[in-house]
Amino acid sequence: MLEVEGVSVQYGAVRALEDVSLTAEVGAITTILGANGAGKTTLLRAMSGLVHPRRGTIRFDGRVLTGRSVEQVVRAGIAHVPEGRGVIEELTVEENLRLGSLILGSRSAQKAVIAEVLELFPPLRDARNRYASSLSGGERQMLAIARALASRPKALLLDEPSLGLAPIVTARLMAVLRELSRSASLTIILVEQNARSALSIAQSAVVLNLGRVVAADTASSLAADTNLRHHYLGF
Ligand SMILES: Nc1ncnc2c1ncn2[C@@H]1O[C@H](COP(=O)(O)OP(=O)(O)OP(=O)(O)O)[C@@H](O)[C@H]1O
Ligand SMILES: [Mg+2]
Repeated sequence: MLEVEGVSVQYGAVRALEDVSLTAEVGAITTILGANGAGKTTLLRAMSGLVHPRRGTIRFDGRVLTGRSVEQVVRAGIAHVPEGRGVIEELTVEENLRLGSLILGSRSAQKAVIAEVLELFPPLRDARNRYASSLSGGERQMLAIARALASRPKALLLDEPSLGLAPIVTARLMAVLRELSRSASLTIILVEQNARSALSIAQSAVVLNLGRVVAADTASSLAADTNLRHHYLGF
């Protein structure tokens, strides 16, 4: 379980997060929703050790993550797919995946995980020898997620994976995420502005506004709350 307790983050004078608490269950999808500037990316960055909270604690599997380096967080089993598709364009699909798998150490473990993630995303399997620069937006997003999965994480943090994707590509991506959380008991934290699709696959949801939690409930209860949807989720 991933637990965030009373976390506050400040960038200079800007209070990006204020006393944020939430719990994400193992093997479930927890979505973090909210408008531009709500603090969603900052929350993911705090979880992965890229920013250090001024106050509060983040725990994963009972171990404290706050104050750790990015590398220690990765070793604890957390993989972060940042906003804007973190792939290396000058490398092929397979080389990107190999980089993701380096943390596993043994060559055979790396080969096995690469074969496995390529099975999850057939378009990548067909494009394994192509440079990432030649991929479409949807393929790049798949590659960014596949690369994160190649480290065999216990938790996957995704920052707006559907941004700029066609609705049909988004739907396919959401289906893969749902399947991953079910079959691989992966804990998924899904940051989305596309609240409708995120709520359709998540079990629980947290809504941020100006750095504070304004709602936290099961995804179905939040989706049924018309007032909240109109106010904060724009649908
Ligand atoms: N490096 C930074 N320096 C100063 N202020 C920042 C920095 N990064 C973010 N902020 C501010 O912190 C607040 C939260 O930003 P954050 O990027 O976490 O929001 P977000 O919910 O991810 O927004 P978006 O939906 O646009 O991605 C905003 O007011 C933003 O301007
Ligand atoms: Mg963001």
